[in-house]
Amino acid sequence: MNIDTKHLHYWMQAIRNSENPMRTLDAFWSGQLKSKEWLIDNLDFVVRPYINKTKISIDIHGGWVGVLASMLFQSKLNISTIRSIDIDHTCEPIAVMMNKGEEIQGRFKAVTGDMCTVRSDSDVIINTSCGHITQDQYDLWLSGLPHNSLLVLQSNNYNIEEHVRTASSLEHFKEQSNINILWQGQLELPLYTRYMIIGDNK
Ligand SMILES: C[S@@+](CC[C@H](N)C(=O)[O-])C[C@H]1O[C@@H](n2cnc3c(N)ncnc32)[C@H](O)[C@@H]1O
Repeated sequence: MNIDTKHLHYWMQAIRNSENPMRTLDAFWSGQLKSKEWLIDNLDFVVRPYINKTKISIDIHGGWVGVLASMLFQSKLNISTIRSIDIDHTCEPIAVMMNKGEEIQGRFKAVTGDMCTVRSDSDVIINTSCGHITQDQYDLWLSGLPHNSLLVLQSNNYNIEEHVRTASSLEHFKEQSNINILWQGQLELPLYTRYMIIGDNK
């Protein structure tokens, strides 16, 4: 996908202005960017027959510093609004700067909060941070979601300290996730395999 200079400028501003630029740069590892590009390409394919609207609203749970939101705004997807929710309050100002153009237009909002308690009613709900919450937290999160939203979930088999719930295979991730699956796939990356399922909570 193409990243334009206007958005690139805001990305650099977000990194430059953040309290810990090296930490913010973690969101730009090749595997992180490729996983998001893969998500966008496949969401585009699934969303068209599923959602009968010209413009879609998106909530990203565990949205981190807002890179996925910015990439979604720059994609072929026709997006009205994106809300990026993260429990870490340091993410909010970085995500706002990362998406400054859309924030000025009233199309982007960053929210500090626990995904398990924040209510969502957007057309698409994305959670690429499934490995960062326990199974109990995930089950609680899923129980609070609407039945008519398209859900996009990612996890991986990368066993590092911050991952409290990895999946050992795509089948394992499907068992953990317990949703009605419309699309599934895995992406081989140098250090780990990323799993993705797209479906609903019907
Ligand atoms: C480090 S990111 C990486 C996730 C994934 N690899 C990606 O690319 O999106 C995981 C994020 O999930 C957030 N997070 C963890 N538990 C959360 C919760 N209960 N509610 C909202 N955000 C949460 C963390 O604060 C962090 O910003």
